[in-house]
Amino acid sequence: MNPHLLSIDSLDRGRVDHLLHVAGRMEPIASRRQVTRILEGAVLGNLFFEASTRTRVSFNAAFCRLGGSVCDTTGFTFSSMAKGESLYDTSRVMSGYCDAIVMRHPEQGSVAEFANATNVPVVNGGDGAGEHPSQALLDLYTIDKEFTRRGKTLPGAHILLTGDLLHGRTVHSLIKLLSLYPPMRITLVAPPGLAMPPALVELVASRGHHVEQRDSLASDFGDLDVVYTTRIQKERFTSELSETFNGVSADFLVNKGFMDRRCTADTIVMHPLPRDSRPDANDLDVDLNGDPRLAIFRQTDNGIPMRMAIFATLLQVEDLVEKDMRPV
Ligand code: CP
Repeated sequence: MNPHLLSIDSLDRGRVDHLLHVAGRMEPIASRRQVTRILEGAVLGNLFFEASTRTRVSFNAAFCRLGGSVCDTTGFTFSSMAKGESLYDTSRVMSGYCDAIVMRHPEQGSVAEFANATNVPVVNGGDGAGEHPSQALLDLYTIDKEFTRRGKTLPGAHILLTGDLLHGRTVHSLIKLLSLYPPMRITLVAPPGLAMPPALVELVASRGHHVEQRDSLASDFGDLDVVYTTRIQKERFTSELSETFNGVSADFLVNKGFMDRRCTADTIVMHPLPRDSRPDANDLDVDLNGDPRLAIFRQTDNGIPMRMAIFATLLQVEDLVEKDMRPV
């Protein structure tokens, strides 16, 4: 078994189904109806060299809920990388202090480079425009729970991914993860210049999924089961793209009007967050906040049990969970 979680590439369908199952078993502890100390004495190194709210805090909370402790570093300023220390040296040092490490870094491939220098499990908390595997796992866990409530199944589902599909690491991991399941219909809608990388489209199509690409939300899609929208990540634009990009048209706004016109009462809306609330961003609108189809906060809540499941399996304590569990 791969000791790290760096990319969805290291997972097969059996391992993903196991993680979904373990996450379900973690729910009573995630919501603090039960407590456990299975990671008592263990230390997590939570290294975030790029901004984060959800990933950093939920990995931290998940490790604490399992009885462990967390050492946090945020930003380069408070790390000796600011003095020129390499990823290799940082990794060797941190693995002497910690039992597991979560790392976010702005450069694609950097978390894998860091993991190569250590023998403690490393989780990729996001590497530039590369991948964000734990987000995709919690997204799949959310889809599975929402579908179960509605009597739906993943095979044959129609899933729409929209927004910045070029730089969105969450959608890169999610499309790989969905591709492990029986064929479904995947519609990709991105503004000009921000389409899903062709290698990922080819991978999903080669596994038997029906993939369609469009450049506007202003058309009919048939029955959609999931609308998954993402923020435009201008901070990752090349200078050439920054000069040619004309902004996102209102056609990309996912709001109540779009949901009522193009979707059904059963379609769920997801977003990895943060959503861009500036008026010209045309991201996910706040007018859906009271709409039960908006699953974004159920999605963030699901980050805790899924991240607990990731730690429990990487540290090989998942079989101890029920034995150690007790009421609050
Ligand atoms: N979804 C996500 O990665 O959010 P943060 O950037 O807040 O961690």
